[in-house]
Amino acid sequence: MSKITLSLAFSFLSLWALGQGLTTNTGAPVGDNQNSKTVGENGPVLLEDIHLIEKLAAFDRERIPERVVHARGAGAFGYFEATADMSAYTQAAPFQQPGKKTEVAVRFSTVIHGHGSPETARDPRGFAVKFYTELGNYDIVGNNLPVFFIRDAIKFPDMVHSLKPSPVTNKQDPGRFFDFFSNVPEATHMLTRLYSDLGIPAGYQYMDGSSVHGFKWVNSQGKVTYVKYTWKTRQGVRNFTAEEAAAQQGKDWQHATAALRSDIEAGQYPQWDLYVQMISPDALDSFDFWPLDATKHWPEDQIPLVKVGTMTLNRNPVNYFQEVESLAFSPGSLIPGVEPSEDKLLQGRLFSYFDTHRHRLGPNYLQIEVNKPKEKVVNYNSDSYASARNDEFPHPDVNYQPSNYTPVQETPAYKYTETKLKDVTITQKKIAKTNDYKQAGEFFKALSKEDQEHLIRNLTGDLAMVTSKEVQKKMITHFYRADRKLGMALAQNLGFGMKDFMSH
Ligand code: HEM
Repeated sequence: MSKITLSLAFSFLSLWALGQGLTTNTGAPVGDNQNSKTVGENGPVLLEDIHLIEKLAAFDRERIPERVVHARGAGAFGYFEATADMSAYTQAAPFQQPGKKTEVAVRFSTVIHGHGSPETARDPRGFAVKFYTELGNYDIVGNNLPVFFIRDAIKFPDMVHSLKPSPVTNKQDPGRFFDFFSNVPEATHMLTRLYSDLGIPAGYQYMDGSSVHGFKWVNSQGKVTYVKYTWKTRQGVRNFTAEEAAAQQGKDWQHATAALRSDIEAGQYPQWDLYVQMISPDALDSFDFWPLDATKHWPEDQIPLVKVGTMTLNRNPVNYFQEVESLAFSPGSLIPGVEPSEDKLLQGRLFSYFDTHRHRLGPNYLQIEVNKPKEKVVNYNSDSYASARNDEFPHPDVNYQPSNYTPVQETPAYKYTETKLKDVTITQKKIAKTNDYKQAGEFFKALSKEDQEHLIRNLTGDLAMVTSKEVQKKMITHFYRADRKLGMALAQNLGFGMKDFMSH
């Protein structure tokens, strides 16, 4: 071997040792990543160019199904720092002592449109936070608005179908979703909030968040307190009017993702304070609404906000697919000290998220780095596609429990709480206190004159696109029942007179 060949071989080897050599999927060095292996210079290309074939095959499979809702989103990482000792109410690890820090992953999102859709849409915004605690991952999978359109999960697929683009024209159509909502009076409250300027946040940093549902906090004595979470932005709430949103869309419709990223990059770390509202189980029935109805706000003058900590986002994802697209949040990712409430919408969600993750990310999605609990997972749920942890046990042949050979045990202190039931009938009924309009009216009345005008204008704009007079009249009637002035203004804007409503 000549001196030159030797030194060339040496420099390739040292590049290799530095770990910078391009490899095939199976780890072998790649000789040429620019030219396929061909018969002569002009081809055809040989099937035996395995590197080429595997490269194309990997590309062909790059996309996984997008989230069926909340497909467009942006993520960031940081920490939650407790400012209160809430151990009298919950054993939940992040809330035990002031100063305690828990790492978090956060994903903000829009709801209805696809993965690459504009961030200027009037749409609720998702506000999902994963706490990596020492007792497991805890997710608060909330939205920016504190209430929801419906109170029972059985309506969710129909509602989403009506809001998504038409199966015929592939275009979102107010005629379809108002057709649905005209038959769902409990949606009036959420629609009143959504069509106010709160419906288009100026950026993810500028919105509050809410768990929407009540959850059960459980203390070390098994005592239950119902809680609802609220995140309050320290950046101040900022929204776009419809005109500002249109102008933003003309300039840059990915502004929310971009601004979250650039603020963090510049060291302007966004922060939110976390509050809880608490209701004891015997006080649940003392309101003119049912607090476990997701269409209802918990009024702060009756159920005060208690601050429990602050969240700071200080790290951007390095790889969007691995750290954001692969994030899997679920309202069922709970830890000791938090249990689901009886809220009928929440109960359906407890199934839906774990189920969709298995479909979207595969059965072992919890082994993806960003979803992995901080502490080792110890159980015998195993195998299936991409299983990576079947050999970690001291007796690999014992994949059952109980066994005389392994010390894998339950922790009785963390059994689910007991709930006593009396005089219960299993049924399929609406809740008794539907009270569908009062809070919508209160929200409208509390708006400034200018904000009321924006709400009326925004609603008029979309209702004017509804071709059915019947649907328009039904929607006006719901808003009229919430607030007379709101209903009258919409009726007038849409060209209806009193006589048109005689039958309603
Ligand atoms: C995402 C179902 C109501 C907040 C999702 C996903 C599904 C789903 C299937 C996609 C999850 C994924 O692919 O990872 C449902 C059902 C509901 C419901 C069945 C009612 C029965 C709600 C409510 C809220 C909410 C009331 C707010 C409190 C979110 C958020 C995400 C999401 C924030 C995105 C999570 C992320 O960033 O990965 N929902 N949802 N959903 N949902 Fe719901």
